[in-house]
Order: sequence, then structure tokens, then C-alpha cells
Amino acid sequence: MQESSVKMRLSLILSTLCVAVFAAPSLDPQLDKHWNLWKSWHSKDYHHTEEGWRRMIWEKNLKKIELHNLEHSLGKHSYRLGMNHFGDMTNEEYRQLMNGYRRRSEKKLLGSHFLEPNNFEAPKQVDWRTQGYVTPVKDQGQCGSCWAFSATGAMEGQMFRKTGKLVSLSEQNLVDCSRPEGNEGCNGGLMDQAFQYINDNHGLDSEASYPYLGTDDQPCHYDPNNSAANDTGFMDVPSGKEHALMKAVAAVGPVSVAIDAGHESFQFYQSGIYYEKDCSSQDLDHGVLVVGYGFEGQDVDGKKYWIVKNSWSEKWGDKGYIYMAKDRKNHCGIATAASYPLV
Ligand SMILES: *[C@@H]1O[C@H](CO)[C@@H](O)[C@H](O)[C@H]1NC(C)=O
Ligand SMILES: *[C@@H]1O[C@H](CO)[C@@H](O)[C@H](O)[C@H]1NC(C)=O
Repeated sequence: MQESSVKMRLSLILSTLCVAVFAAPSLDPQLDKHWNLWKSWHSKDYHHTEEGWRRMIWEKNLKKIELHNLEHSLGKHSYRLGMNHFGDMTNEEYRQLMNGYRRRSEKKLLGSHFLEPNNFEAPKQVDWRTQGYVTPVKDQGQCGSCWAFSATGAMEGQMFRKTGKLVSLSEQNLVDCSRPEGNEGCNGGLMDQAFQYINDNHGLDSEASYPYLGTDDQPCHYDPNNSAANDTGFMDVPSGKEHALMKAVAAVGPVSVAIDAGHESFQFYQSGIYYEKDCSSQDLDHGVLVVGYGFEGQDVDGKKYWIVKNSWSEKWGDKGYIYMAKDRKNHCGIATAASYPLV
């Protein structure tokens, strides 16, 4: 009895493997035009030995996206997926390339502790984009520098709050110069270490004076003459408490957060309220910026969202943004490691 079931399982595994090994790369000729359009829209240029398998990955992704959206139209999901510039990447490649939030730092920096203001009632919805706190969506390119974009986003908001002027700040300055604080350039980093650098350095240059390159092999060339921001430290929001995060966002402005963004559903997110059943609240791999929160239709469970700014250009997601499930048990870890600079 037992033996036969083991044998059966074994033969199942073997036949699965055989299919994978012997299946000829069959491409769908009906998708030729679509493929060519996608390639030119995203300026993809492949060596002829690469194009075949890139196309195979793309077709596989396209089918998954179509299936998800069909299920969405049947009410199974609260969000839609869409083909984008990650369409020729497997999920493993996407994870390696895009997600540069690194938790493994030996010397944990301690920020001040955000205390929920007691006599402060957070409004039901907030969108700092409409108040001038938020610069346009940026593009980190093929560099694991999400942490730098999350940090500049929070700094831009706090500087606006202080001075009334919105100045885009330099991620490249952080990538090149904050290694002593523990960041690792395009290999990842932490927002708190970026805030610490700005404090140690007594300044951060503007985007215009220190533009983004998306590489990490040039020396630091911070110029105090072009300093556009300062901080005196940073504030950590109590870990895992979405209610505290809500009060922090409402009280001060955009807040840096780390999330689990490793899933295919995130890779191809397009619109709606993102909810991924496999999302982790602890395995965080991506730094982004919460710029507000709200709800769809009614302010009830399942309809509430965080408004999250990403750094993958406007081609990704909902014009560069994602609306992530709010008050659903700290979904994807949105409130696990939230912080903002003190200016
Ligand atoms: C900063 O400005 C001062 C005065 O304009 C100038 O003397 C100095 O060389 C500048 N520093 C750098 C690094 O360019
Ligand atoms: C930041 O602080 C330094 C001195 O600590 C100052 O020289 C610089 O002008 C400040 N930058 C801004 C934008 O306020």
C-alpha cells in the first residue's frame, strides 16, 4: 500500500521532469506582433541566442496575467495584473534584480520612538500627493537602490513640510556615500542608515546637482554647496502596528516602509487593492514610501488601502503606485519597519 503510493508519487515527479526537459520551445505565432510591440515599447534588444527563451518566459507571464485578470473579473481578486517591462524576467531574476532592502546589518541603528499622539484623531483618508509633498515617480533602473529612493521620498516630504518647497533629492549621493553607515550601493541598504548618513554628513545634495546613474562604482562626490536637505536623526514607528503607522502618516507626511515585494503578483501589479495570500510580514525585501491611505467605496474591512509610491517608473503598477491592503494583519509587512527623518 505504502510502497505503491511512493512509487506513484515518484513516477509523477519523473513525468513532470520529462515534460520540462523534452518540451520543445513552442512559441505562439499569434503573439508575434504583440511581442514585437512590447519589445520596442520597452526598448528591449536581445542577442539572437537569447530572444527565444526570453519570449518563452514572456509568454508564460502573459498567460498568468490573463488568467489572473479573468479570475479578477469573476470576483476572485481585488486587483488586476498587467504586462510591463519585467515581462521577460522569471520571478527569481526579478527578485534578485529589484529588491534591495537588506535587513542583515550587525549594528542596528536606533531611532527615536514614535509615540502615537493621544489627542489626535487621524482622518479617514490622506493623500500627501495633493498637498505638494511628493515628487514624480522615479526609476531605480537595474540597481538594488530602492532603500535610497524610499529615503529621499521621506526626506522630500519632511523638507517640504518644513520649508514649503519641494526639492527632488539625490539617491546617487546616498548610493555613493553611505557605505560607512552600512549601506551597500546597488546591493541594498536600509532607509534608517540613509537618514543616519544625512545626519553624519550634515547634508544631502539635490537630484539636479547629483543626478542618478544607477551604478555604484564611482567615488562619493557630495558637494556641500548643493546641499538641499538635513536631518537630525529619524523616528521608528512601533513595529507591526498599522494604527501607529496611520497616525504617523497623518501627522507628519510620507513615511518610509519596507515590504515583501517578491511575488509574481507584485512584479505585474497594475491596479486595485493588492492582497497576496503568500505575502510575509517578516521577510521584507523592498523599500518604498507610504504617501497616504484611503478606502474604495466604503471605509470597511477589505476596502482600505495604503497609497504606496514605488521607484520602478510610471510604467509599473498604477502610474508607478500600488494600493496595498490596509488593516489586514500588517499585510506584506507594511508596518514592520516604518520610519521617517527628523528635520
Ligand atoms: C563651494 O562654493 C565656494 C564659494 O562659492 C567655493 O569656493 C568652493 O570651491 C565650492 N566648493 C566646491 C566643492 O565646489
Ligand atoms: C545643512 O546643515 C549644514 C550645516 O550643518 C549647512 O551648511 C547646510 O546649509 C544645511 N543644508 C540645508 C539645506 O539646510
